[in-house]
Amino acid sequence: MLLYPTCLHHPPPLLPVVIGIGMRAFITAIFTVFCVVLSGSAHSPGIDESTIPTLAHRTQETCGDNADLVPLFEIDATSLTSHIYTTSNVNVSKYIIDDTASFLGVAALIFPFSEPSTVPLFALRGTGTPSAYFYTTNATERDEVLAQGWQNWTTTGYIYSSQICGSVPLYRLHYIAANTDYIYTTSTATRDDAILNQGFTYEGIAGYVMQLSSFLTGAVCS
Ligand SMILES: *[C@@H]1O[C@H](CO)[C@@H](O)[C@H](O)[C@H]1NC(C)=O
Ligand SMILES: *[C@@H]1O[C@H](CO)[C@@H](O)[C@H](O)[C@H]1NC(C)=O
Ligand SMILES: *[C@@H]1O[C@H](CO)[C@@H](O)[C@H](O)[C@H]1NC(C)=O
Repeated sequence: MLLYPTCLHHPPPLLPVVIGIGMRAFITAIFTVFCVVLSGSAHSPGIDESTIPTLAHRTQETCGDNADLVPLFEIDATSLTSHIYTTSNVNVSKYIIDDTASFLGVAALIFPFSEPSTVPLFALRGTGTPSAYFYTTNATERDEVLAQGWQNWTTTGYIYSSQICGSVPLYRLHYIAANTDYIYTTSTATRDDAILNQGFTYEGIAGYVMQLSSFLTGAVCS
């Protein structure tokens, strides 16, 4: 049974109309986050279809802004037998000069600051010799590692905690030995090679990140 509005003969009060227009402008602003650029002046408040909930609109509210993504660089510091991940050009240069480290490339694309649906990726540094770098989004696990004597290094960036917005898993691999080492990769080939040929143990998915190749295939905005 359909219910019809019973109060159409009443003139609408002025204040809610003003608030309604303001709210529509606000929602329109939110929907301009990325990929789709809405022109504010092109929408008259009465027929603003940007307020109609569609899958595209929900996605834009849920996802971070891909324009903010930065490369997460991967370094293999041979003197530390340790992999280091950082978004900082300065830190890449520092490690390559100080530790004769190898630059391995871009492991993933991550957000440099907090964005919708993201969580911090904590970086910790082992205090042993050789040292090691450990990354986790799990604050409980971070605190356990701190209690074992590791130190806070930095917050590397922000990543998704579930597989949304075209993200891919960031696999964690652990070389369990005195010269402990962690590898983080989006590549199943690299993951499987580390397990089968280099003695690493698979420790699950650290979080979900964007991949450089997503941009090349145009998958990001679909
Ligand atoms: C670079 O490394 C320093 C510690 O050596 C750290 O405090 C800083 O947050 C790092 N920068 C980035 C962007 O990760
Ligand atoms: C976080 O780490 C703790 C301790 O290692 C673990 O018990 C818990 O299951 C982890 N939580 C998630 C969501 O993985
Ligand atoms: C490590 O950093 C976290 C936040 O990033 C903070 O809550 C915690 O107190 C720090 N722990 C130590 C031992 O510095």
